[in-house]
Amino acid sequence: ITKQNINEAGHLEIGGCDAIDLANQFGTPLVVYDTGKIRSQIRKFKAVFEKSNIDYAVCYASKAFANTAMYQLVNQEQGHIDVVSGGELSMALHAGFPVSRISFHGNNKSEDELRMALENHVGVIMLDNFHEIDLLNQLLTDMNTHCDVMLRITPGISAHTHEFIQTGQTDSKFGFDLESGEAKKAFEIVHANKSIHLLGIHAHIGSQVFELKGFEMAASKLVDLASEWKQEYGYEAQVINVGGGFGIQYTDEDDPLRPEAFVQKIVDTVKARTKVEGLKMPAIWIEPGRSIVGNAGYNLYRIGSRKDVPGIKSYVSVDGGMGDNIRPMLYDAKYEAVMADHPLRSAVENVHLVGKYCESGDVLIKNQPLPETKPGDVIVMLDTGAYGYSMASNYNLNPKPAIVFVENGKEQLVTRRQNYTDLYELDNKLK
Ligand code: LLP
Repeated sequence: ITKQNINEAGHLEIGGCDAIDLANQFGTPLVVYDTGKIRSQIRKFKAVFEKSNIDYAVCYASKAFANTAMYQLVNQEQGHIDVVSGGELSMALHAGFPVSRISFHGNNKSEDELRMALENHVGVIMLDNFHEIDLLNQLLTDMNTHCDVMLRITPGISAHTHEFIQTGQTDSKFGFDLESGEAKKAFEIVHANKSIHLLGIHAHIGSQVFELKGFEMAASKLVDLASEWKQEYGYEAQVINVGGGFGIQYTDEDDPLRPEAFVQKIVDTVKARTKVEGLKMPAIWIEPGRSIVGNAGYNLYRIGSRKDVPGIKSYVSVDGGMGDNIRPMLYDAKYEAVMADHPLRSAVENVHLVGKYCESGDVLIKNQPLPETKPGDVIVMLDTGAYGYSMASNYNLNPKPAIVFVENGKEQLVTRRQNYTDLYELDNKLK
């Protein structure tokens, strides 16, 4: 938060809108996205490819955050999307997202989901395992149709946040293992199948990755594999897809590169390796989720009760918590928060910012420095845009928050707040 994000009233401004006004107008807890930031990040990714003059696709990994308006926004920016369930696919179709720009991922897509993808002519199905190849082949025969696929490879590289490890054989549940020859076997089956067109090869090494090395290794492994299949089978991969996972900054402890730097590294690596191998330059696809929406999202809460345990700690409670953002509890994820009405005022104490859920673990931020606060004050958790609302639940039967998009001083309610009747509309009373 800098002075630029503070308006004349001294309040935090998000996308040109006063955070207090947003809380008053739409209620709390409230999820706010600055869509200018989302657009700008998609454009930065695209710029890397365009200046290098290569074919590309920026496939937004919509598991990070999806609602109808978000799919529309990605479409406005001419992006692609990655969906991982019939639910995400259905919402994208509902939003009018062009099917040709959809990739369908997942390690256990059901027959119904695959059929739905084929019926709608989804752009590309990301093949993950042998069972899926069988299912798909059966469906293609039954439906007398064909489709484009990519093979998801487990390249033996996995990134664990601040480091990456290269393992002999990988322990991932996703994809065809490279080392054991699974990938080659899958290739042979697909290559021989007239109804399946193999567009290219995919690998995803992890999420919230800070180092270039893992992406460099994955990109060169994919090119080497393409080269092998070219020599052995005369197959030419049109696309190298290196997945997502570019790390973002949540707190001062994180010092990531700018997301574009990862993409530049991937581009340079693929360019150099294809040249060495004498291959035609393929298109490069990326699948960023977090780096597109993470820093664009804000969770607004109102402060309520307080408990001081003398000499030990103080708890300040807000009207949301683990139901709208489970990342602190699930991954020990760190966030920062500011007071909406005076974001830069100096702190007078460190408190545990806790939610309203019936669990001691419902702590949003440990040791959050805060100025003096009182019930009713609006507090804003920053950088909550990725995997916050998308992993929200109705635990304790708390309704899910509303979502507002803001840009250039204009706000729009894009997902309404759940109400109490939403919570039991699926139920039947006992007969
Ligand atoms: N592509 C594939 C195949 C993926 O599995 C993922 C994320 C992505 C792309 C996007 O990764 P991103 O750019 O967002 O890091 N719930 C966890 C993150 C799970 C990520 C799963 N796969 C969290 O809240 O940190």
